[in-house]
Amino acid sequence: MEKPVKVGLLGLGVVGTGVLEILSDHQNKIEKSIGCPLAVTKALIRPTEDKAAIAEKYDLQLVHELSDIIEDPEIDIVVEVMGRIEPAKTFIAEALKAGKHVVTANKDLLAQHGSELASLAHEQKRNLYYEASVAGGIPILRTIANSLAADDITEVLGIVNGTTNYMLTKMVTEQMSYDVALKQAQELGFAESDPTNDVDGIDAAYKMVILSKFAFGMTITMDQVKVKGIRGLASEDVSMADSLGYTVKLIGSTKKTGDSISAEVGPVLVPNTHPLASIHNEFNAVFVKSSGIGESMYYGPGAGARPTATSIVADLMTIVNKIQLGTLGHRFSEYTQPTKLTAPEESFSKYFLSLEMPDETGQFLQLAEIMANAGVGFEQVVQGKSDGKKARVVVITHQLSETMLATIKKEIAEKTNFDLLASMKVMEG
Ligand SMILES: NC(=O)c1ccc[n+]([C@@H]2O[C@H](COP(=O)([O-])OP(=O)(O)OC[C@H]3O[C@@H](n4cnc5c(N)ncnc54)[C@H](OP(=O)(O)O)[C@@H]3O)[C@@H](O)[C@H]2O)c1
Repeated sequence: MEKPVKVGLLGLGVVGTGVLEILSDHQNKIEKSIGCPLAVTKALIRPTEDKAAIAEKYDLQLVHELSDIIEDPEIDIVVEVMGRIEPAKTFIAEALKAGKHVVTANKDLLAQHGSELASLAHEQKRNLYYEASVAGGIPILRTIANSLAADDITEVLGIVNGTTNYMLTKMVTEQMSYDVALKQAQELGFAESDPTNDVDGIDAAYKMVILSKFAFGMTITMDQVKVKGIRGLASEDVSMADSLGYTVKLIGSTKKTGDSISAEVGPVLVPNTHPLASIHNEFNAVFVKSSGIGESMYYGPGAGARPTATSIVADLMTIVNKIQLGTLGHRFSEYTQPTKLTAPEESFSKYFLSLEMPDETGQFLQLAEIMANAGVGFEQVVQGKSDGKKARVVVITHQLSETMLATIKKEIAEKTNFDLLASMKVMEG
């Protein structure tokens, strides 16, 4: 057996501890697969943290300075699992410059500075891997970069945020309100005390930036992703969607139209017959449409110490293989294309519109007229309960462009007394 490849950990929280656990529990298989032991020898923690018991259990040295890790000639690979942008970005850059390979699970950082860090790794002839940054334990990046390398991907759709999927599952199956579902998710540890990144769709948008790069070779920025979350989603709309045969899910998507792409995150009505409708609770799934394979779906835990750590350790093993073969400095995904975004007038979907209108005759005619003027027909119309003064009406439209939707919304605001309570895309079956 060859001498061990040594690893330095930056951060010893949930995922960092999971990495130690997976390396220890699966040690035998890992050694046999890569031909040498993989050992974490040092971990960077804050001076205020007490991690002595973990250090003793896994026989590692705790340090408080980055230099203790990146200046250690014995350490080949650094794993960043601290989270947030800084100091993680600087630490990864310093590690690469010091000749270390890097594995990270940090989607926030990769979505915002991934290209810069990948270029630095390439220049330094070092590897940067980040499978765990999208959908935790689901090996989706490697699947797209390797297994689907020969395929022409047309769309990647996913439930890539476990917190919101847990909340929506409760809202659909137990008719919980948004607030109660959020509180329960927080109590169970699925949602953080500040749930902004999850409920406002930001976390899912980070993943769409990374997936757009892997699926289409295009580098997009966060402000090029159209992001809408589920904050304040009304349980009435979730129930109305249910009665029409749909399940509301927070869907991240990146889609190719011709030679351009559009990426977005938002609540979407998924037909109950679609595989994504059956993804419940905190689970994640990524659905890929491609011309070779057709449709394929990748399902599993999107977070958690062991699933996330398993992806990280697989990245470590990939890097060890590359060190042994001397094939260093290649990007995780080498596919690169000029970025082109789809214009709003070329982006089509069916929509669910939920409106509150005075419960008087002739009101619905106004809506029909606005829709007819925009050249859009209804596929389904349902009137909900009326309190005698106002009635909730939901419609599902035929296909319309984002520009047409904007015109309809403007006309409703200017020419009627209706309140447009919600508009959501409707996925084709
Ligand atoms: N948890 C998951 O299931 C999951 C899934 C996929 C990806 N990820 C990603 O994995 C990363 C780690 O997540 P996690 O859940 O393990 O977070 P965590 O439990 O909060 O662990 C991060 C640890 O790093 C420490 N840390 C932060 N800044 C540091 C610094 N400058 N020096 C030394 N230590 C520092 C933190 O200490 P303090 O608490 O004192 O700040 C904490 O102990 C994040 O990028 C996250 O997005 C997590």
